[in-house]
Amino acid sequence: MFTSHWQSNPRMYIKETCLQCHQAWDEKQVRYLLDGMVNHYQGKVRHAEFWLVQLIDQFQVAQAVGIDAAALNEARAKHDEAHANWEWWTASNGSAFHNLDQAKESLAKSAAASQAGIKILQDAIKAKASAAAPAPQPAAPAPAQKSGAAPGAPQVAAAR
Ligand code: HEC
Repeated sequence: MFTSHWQSNPRMYIKETCLQCHQAWDEKQVRYLLDGMVNHYQGKVRHAEFWLVQLIDQFQVAQAVGIDAAALNEARAKHDEAHANWEWWTASNGSAFHNLDQAKESLAKSAAASQAGIKILQDAIKAKASAAAPAPQPAAPAPAQKSGAAPGAPQVAAAR
């Protein structure tokens, strides 16, 4: 067993720590492995952040359009979920090594919650836009009828 009073990282003591048990590996391999885990982890954090940013941008559009408060609140709940499942991993140190699977599961939940929130907002924006759109324009006036009906007078629908 290796103990130290220094606040440090086993990365600085690979021979004294990891290689005591993992005797088939060398220091270079352990460093490569650790870098791979950290980069994989950081990629997942960036992915969750990308979707959080898209969600936050959608709030601005939704509020400018003035969507229903109910849809806004539903999307806010998704934002809470997305935020909590992301922020934890920005504060944790060493999760890439110690909790990689849990981190990936939680960060995937974050991205899914952001995407669900975006969908709620986009649906509400669409609904608002179609409610606000001008009524469809009447079709071009029908050609004058031999019957002499005034232009614009209701036409008796022909058999369809
Ligand atoms: C006290 C002994 C011990 C020490 C020290 C130790 N490990 Fe391990 N490690 C294990 C055991 C046991 C396993 C589980 C093997 C299994 O489940 O098949 C494991 C599993 C792993 C795995 C997963 C391997 C796989 O194929 O899924 C990695 C990666 C790993 N260790 C890296 C490290 C690194 C890096 C260090 C140094 C920071 C380290 N270990 C220190 C005993 C140790």
